[in-house]
Amino acid sequence: MTDLSHIIDDARAAFACATRPADLENEKAKFLGKDGVLTAELKALGKLPIEEKKARGAQVNAVRQQVETLLNDARNALAQAALNEKLATEQLDVTLPGRGQATGGIHPVTRVTRRVAAIFRSMGFDVADGPEIENDWYNFSSLNSPENHPARSMQDTFYVEDKDERGRPLVLRTHTSPMQVRYARTHVQNAHPPIKVIAPGRTYRVDSDATHSPMFHQVEGLWIDKAVSFADLKSVYTTFLQRFFETDDVKLRFRPSYFPFTEPSVEIDMAFGSGPNAGKWLEISGAGQVHPSVIRNFGLDPEEYMGFAFGSGLERLAMLRYGVNDLRLFFENDLRFLGQFK
Ligand code: DAH
Repeated sequence: MTDLSHIIDDARAAFACATRPADLENEKAKFLGKDGVLTAELKALGKLPIEEKKARGAQVNAVRQQVETLLNDARNALAQAALNEKLATEQLDVTLPGRGQATGGIHPVTRVTRRVAAIFRSMGFDVADGPEIENDWYNFSSLNSPENHPARSMQDTFYVEDKDERGRPLVLRTHTSPMQVRYARTHVQNAHPPIKVIAPGRTYRVDSDATHSPMFHQVEGLWIDKAVSFADLKSVYTTFLQRFFETDDVKLRFRPSYFPFTEPSVEIDMAFGSGPNAGKWLEISGAGQVHPSVIRNFGLDPEEYMGFAFGSGLERLAMLRYGVNDLRLFFENDLRFLGQFK
């Protein structure tokens, strides 16, 4: 049996001469590779008589393990040397800014929604949430826009293919007004007002320009009791805006208008205070005294109960608060825009 220990010495010498990782791998091939010395020894085992095979096999394996250990040591030594060299030549610039963790911000429309909710809550209003896919009874009929009535075409609608469990067509709600009826029918205990609620949320219409987007946000407001008048609407809404804009100096105009679910109806405009649109009017809300047939759909007697409702555009309020003149900016997800609200 030839002695194999010279292989270990050869490997040690060969690995020590390699100064680059690629050289080391070449040297490795000479011992452990397909045509390497140790591989040849292993192949040769096959030709040995059975009684020698076992002892020789153990020998070859022991040598292979030692060569592998030598190889790993040599690899580590090269890596360490490379690192030392890097550390010696490269300097650390401790004045560079850190990578940091980018912080997110709350979307301006969400901010505005929260602000509106907090103000109305402080005035005793409940805050309710409702479905964005609505059946056409709540979205239209219950609000006094019967099927085929031209008033329905005031709002160009996204219909959904499915129908609800009672076979009613489904739409992406075109306004938050259906929440008036939903809330009244589900939350009013034994039909006893007062009903005092706001319902903010997403709404959808086939509409798109600088002041309209196919998806936008509204907040519905409703206050029903024995004697809630148009004067109450003016005072509540004005107070809300004064608190929202943190100034007593809000310029408002209640302009006569038409909605099927209110009588009388108005649109509320507010003047931009500053910025490129200063002095221009922006419509922010529809409002009015709730129509007797809608009160009946609440499950209440219109001879006994009355009140006001409004539906305001939350993006419009955000535009006025932050001096933004194009509503589409809110939905383009441009971080240069959104980052300003952090
Ligand atoms: N829902 C109406 C719209 O989106 C706005 C509106 C008008 C809401 C009058 C109301 C209201 O509650 O009383 O155009």
